[in-house]
Amino acid sequence: MSTTNGTAPIAIRTTGLSCGYDGRVVLQDVNIAVPQGRITCVLGGSGCGKSTLLKTLLMLEPAMGGSIYIGADDMCCCDNARLQVLRRSVGVLFQGAALFNSLTLLENVAFPLLELTELDEAIATETARLKLALVGLAPYAHFLPAEVSGGMRKRCGIARALVRDPAILFLDEPGAGLDPTTSAGLDRMILGIRNRLGTTIVVVTHELPSIHAIADHCIMLAGGRVIAQGTLEQVGASGAPGVREFFERIPPDEPQPTEGLATLLLP
Ligand SMILES: Nc1ncnc2c1ncn2[C@@H]1O[C@H](COP(=O)(O)OP(=O)(O)O)[C@@H](O)[C@H]1O
Ligand SMILES: [Mg+2]
Repeated sequence: MSTTNGTAPIAIRTTGLSCGYDGRVVLQDVNIAVPQGRITCVLGGSGCGKSTLLKTLLMLEPAMGGSIYIGADDMCCCDNARLQVLRRSVGVLFQGAALFNSLTLLENVAFPLLELTELDEAIATETARLKLALVGLAPYAHFLPAEVSGGMRKRCGIARALVRDPAILFLDEPGAGLDPTTSAGLDRMILGIRNRLGTTIVVVTHELPSIHAIADHCIMLAGGRVIAQGTLEQVGASGAPGVREFFERIPPDEPQPTEGLATLLLP
């Protein structure tokens, strides 16, 4: 397991952030710090607001209150030009990869460069080719998404998220729907991106093997709030209600095993 260097600079910070939709608050009083160049896992059960937090940090959903700082910039007070620059420094893989079915993998990865930059098409294609190679998909550049596996589509989505060399990469449940071996391969790739590119990576996940494999830092959500944050050990030791249930996979209304039984049954 990776460990967090407590002295890492902070890439993203929120103070008193509220997130939600149409006046309905999903998360409130979110005060988090995402260390730069590390992998931060956003944890919590289904529907607890992980994707909502991600969309709010990406400014795709407006914050209902509070502040989001990317580096020293308060996202809520930036002018449009600065916001554009900040948005460019972020890459994202949404749940399900969301590739264009009629474009090849290479065209999918080149798409943000052709749509959002003035880059010459040949340079955009070459850049996309390099990113596909980075995620191990160079031989499949001319395949359509439907012609490759789910794990390869996720890798392609990550290559597309990386194509503009973002300082921060957001991944929403990259392992969802993948078999354990493929998911473990994706985890190794995410670690490789952190190690080789120094990217700050925020991964939404509820998959315990992934969390153990990649998390330098964790932010745990439950009941509309952040209930714990820190290294995996710190979160595990926090004693916050809901943490033990999450890590021991105890359904909310199920009787909990006694101490002795838990030692016998749980890793
Ligand atoms: N676009 C939306 N409009 C309204 N409510 C939404 C929207 N997206 C999510 N929600 C609601 O917000 C809550 C948190 O959802 P979400 O952030 O997707 O959870 P998670 O990613 O943790 O599974 C849920 O109650 C969900 O129904
Ligand atoms: Mg989600």
